[in-house]
Amino acid sequence: MPSIIAGNWKMNGGLAAAAGYANALKAADSKALLIVCPPFPLLVTFAAAFEGVGIALGAQDCHARPSGAHTGDVSAVLIRETGAAYVILGHSERRADHAETNAVVAAKVEAAVAAGLTPIVCVGESEAERDAGEAEDVVKTQLRHSLPAGFRGLVAYEPIWAIGTGRTPSTADVVAMHAAIRAALTEQFPETGPATPILYGGSVKPENAASLLALPEVGGALVGGASLKAADFLAIADAAPSV
Ligand code: PGA
Repeated sequence: MPSIIAGNWKMNGGLAAAAGYANALKAADSKALLIVCPPFPLLVTFAAAFEGVGIALGAQDCHARPSGAHTGDVSAVLIRETGAAYVILGHSERRADHAETNAVVAAKVEAAVAAGLTPIVCVGESEAERDAGEAEDVVKTQLRHSLPAGFRGLVAYEPIWAIGTGRTPSTADVVAMHAAIRAALTEQFPETGPATPILYGGSVKPENAASLLALPEVGGALVGGASLKAADFLAIADAAPSV
């Protein structure tokens, strides 16, 4: 299976940047599966640009309901209509800024799957939790309660303290956490868990991508800041091991 390199633009980028970015990605011939997750208003623009070139599109959130009186929210159904195939759910910034609980995330995952989207569900511990030796327990609890029965999708391990800080966990810590996530997924979902891709996220950049992506059970990366420049995003994808 090729590495999956997903770019989370967060609340960045604009219409002007999107065209050049799409052209740069289209011109490159990446061996990784690229997923670009821009803000909602750019989904349609990217969908048109990426048609037929094998680059996938994702949103950064969705609502748990297919429609209704939810001002400012966007349904998974509408996201799917734009041509997006993926949606990031349970990102630590959503959990922190919008008080999203594991139960809320699980409901969104169900809505996403029902709409035909593949969810990328984020889990990860805070620095205090890691320092207290609780990282694996925190992540396992998130997996248990954020992933509904029959889960099909991707999981992204993103230690909160590594997001946007330039810091990454040690190789040993990434390997240990990804092994723990694999074991938990396999126990929770005996059929799909053994093959669920587990991405690493948190300060992935061209300089550290090769070493992170080569680690066991690291099926790809969820990239924030470094995904905003096409050249950096492509350099990360190029660092993925060949299959
Ligand atoms: P970062 O963000 O690459 O800027 O650390 C990763 C993420 O939040 O998905």
